Amino acid sequence: MAARTQVGIIGAGPAGLFLAHLLHRAGISSVIVEHRSRQAIEGTLRAGVLEQWTVDLMNEMGLGERMMREAHFHSGITLRFNRQSHHIDMAGLTGGKRVTVYAQHEVIKDLVAARLAHGGEIVFDVGETSLHDIEGKPEIRYRPHQTGEIETLRCDFIVGCDGQYGPSRQAIPDAVRTEYHKTYPFGWLGILADAPPAHHELIYNNHSRGFALLSTRTPTVQRYYLQCDPQDNVAQWSDDRIWAELHRRTETVDGWKLTEGPITQKGIIAMRCFVSEPMQHGRLFIAGDAAHIVPPTGAKGLNLAVADVVVLSRALDAHYRKGATDLLEAYSETALKRIWKAERFSWYMTSMLHRNKAESSFEQRVHLAELDYLISSRAAATALAENYVGLPIN
Ligand code: PHB
Repeated sequence: MAARTQVGIIGAGPAGLFLAHLLHRAGISSVIVEHRSRQAIEGTLRAGVLEQWTVDLMNEMGLGERMMREAHFHSGITLRFNRQSHHIDMAGLTGGKRVTVYAQHEVIKDLVAARLAHGGEIVFDVGETSLHDIEGKPEIRYRPHQTGEIETLRCDFIVGCDGQYGPSRQAIPDAVRTEYHKTYPFGWLGILADAPPAHHELIYNNHSRGFALLSTRTPTVQRYYLQCDPQDNVAQWSDDRIWAELHRRTETVDGWKLTEGPITQKGIIAMRCFVSEPMQHGRLFIAGDAAHIVPPTGAKGLNLAVADVVVLSRALDAHYRKGATDLLEAYSETALKRIWKAERFSWYMTSMLHRNKAESSFEQRVHLAELDYLISSRAAATALAENYVGLPIN
């Protein structure tokens, strides 16, 4: 069977869902096809920090009600090194912009519910998704698990929001595509623990045994991370080993101590950077993780995906309202400028905060000097803060 829509979106992650909402607001029709189930996308754990403009956008679009009730709003972050804590006052340094801690899957739940509530289409559980005729009359073909019959979705444009392993990026011919990669020789072990919050803001710990991050989810559930070997298996990390390591890496000279609690989840996350250029070919556009990956240190992944589709939705709006193509043609270049700044920031935070065996002791001392500079220079702290709370979207 064949159906038709203006914009065919592959992937119901942050990029695909925000795009569908932005297009709906502009009166442009779209259909999202997603290879996973609703339950799976609503249960996937990712980083949990929203930039200020992401929060503002959710509110502006009427999607922020639960977030405003349940999220944690912090005025800054704590950097801890040499066993001492230093507060970086993000709000004070950026004219009132805050750090909002609200897990990605909570955003996904809110966006899916609102999309379905206004009759928008999301086809979950589809297999064998493929892209056709992206330089002519685009089509997405897919096989819903329920019927097993191939379906065709004809559209004016396809937007690939299907993550790093989806088919969209591969549909851009190798000859026109350049990929930039960096893989770190460490990963993160992430846990959820039933415990009270460690602090009233996130604590980023630089320690000789490796990085640790203390984040939060709810007043009774905390999200903690430990730098680990990327080849580690969670089975090698007993609860006792995790707590011992968290204590060592977060203790301070004045005797601060983390409160333990039952660990309910453990997982290992790879740390890598990736950018694919260009982000457009013919009538195919790619956005979010389909085009770029950041290590989780700066918590930029979701925000970057949303920024891409804000740029793209403006361009699609100008196309449908005025027949203008200049913004569509500029999409890749416009989005990439901001993406590379977020890649730089994530790389900077990652290098500064981790112990990297591939680096010399000289470089490790330079990272400590950088941290010391951050806590002693308003200019340096402001540079960190404006990137952390989110650079403007041009
Ligand atoms: C998280 O809460 O998952 C989180 C917070 C801050 C980061 C990364 C992850 O930089």
